[in-house]
Amino acid sequence: MTEGGSAIEATARRACVTGGAGFIGSHLVDALRSRGIEVAVLDDLSSGRLENLSRHQAGVELIEGSVTDPAMCAAAVHGCDLVFHLASRVSVVESMEKPALYRSICAGGTRRMLEAAEAAGVRRLIHAGSCSVYGDAPPPVDENASTSPTSPYAAAKLEAEEHCREFSRERRLEVVCPRFFNVYGPRQRADSPYAGVIAIFAAMAARGEAPIIFGTGEQTRDFIHVSDIIGGLLLAGVACDVGDGQPINLGSGRATSILELAEILGCDPPRHEAGRSGEIVHSLADTTRARRVLGFESAVELERGLQDPELAGPGQA
Ligand SMILES: NC(=O)c1ccc[n+]([C@@H]2O[C@H](COP(=O)([O-])OP(=O)(O)OC[C@H]3O[C@@H](n4cnc5c(N)ncnc54)[C@H](O)[C@@H]3O)[C@@H](O)[C@H]2O)c1
Repeated sequence: MTEGGSAIEATARRACVTGGAGFIGSHLVDALRSRGIEVAVLDDLSSGRLENLSRHQAGVELIEGSVTDPAMCAAAVHGCDLVFHLASRVSVVESMEKPALYRSICAGGTRRMLEAAEAAGVRRLIHAGSCSVYGDAPPPVDENASTSPTSPYAAAKLEAEEHCREFSRERRLEVVCPRFFNVYGPRQRADSPYAGVIAIFAAMAARGEAPIIFGTGEQTRDFIHVSDIIGGLLLAGVACDVGDGQPINLGSGRATSILELAEILGCDPPRHEAGRSGEIVHSLADTTRARRVLGFESAVELERGLQDPELAGPGQA
């Protein structure tokens, strides 16, 4: 997949990546640096890791601070052509315990970044949205499906998108709103109760432990490899006519049950525990719009992506 007509390095000299020390953000930093683009990372290191950026000797400026702090946001976007806004708390379960924190970081932090980007004359902000905003809408979901967040995390991500659309509607800034489905790949943390299922299962399989499945395991997800998400984000940085804040699904278009996933990973027979509240049963992207407006195609088949030995995540067996 290429970035279509104009390559991102032809249109951006410097970009800001919030959450750039995290799982997806650090892969984006790698992709931008490999194209010669200078990067400013704004990250509070709450879940991000300095090791994720350690391969970059030059060209990456780390600003350690929160997207809820306007001075930090202003420092991070200074001189940038593009802003990729990925900083967020990312756990549905934790958001049930701390809804105000999630609203303040995901929704409030997004507004602070939009304000800073507008003030600095940034050309375009790309916001990392989430498929969780669809709730239990029947799959496959396209972007016209009604939104129905079932957790404070999803509600805050939807509110963040509404801020994005307000800024683009009022022509204060071009804003692109991709919605990621379930992203997996190297550097995804497995060492937290809030980690992604693939990182956790891969780590347990590596230790020869049986995975724990919440509920029947028949719930399905649309898993997409992080390299495909990075391809989609780079396209979002350059594509024409997408800066109106309308959502764009980034998924693989394939549904996989949690039981199938455990089998593909070669896990021991799973143990089952009660289902978790706020958890969506089925999730699958209709990616027609992404194909049409971005030229996006996911390229990494799940079976291939799951063979990566680094999937077990940092700090794991
Ligand atoms: N991983 C997925 O499957 C998935 C799916 C849908 C959407 N997303 C979105 O993608 C983005 C990146 O997620 P990820 O999976 O890489 O998670 P991650 O936890 O690895 O990355 C999030 C980063 O944001 C930083 N951060 C958190 N709060 C911050 C704050 N207040 N100020 C500055 N930095 C802060 C963290 O330290 C971390 O580096 C998030 O916006 C998330 O909502 C991820």
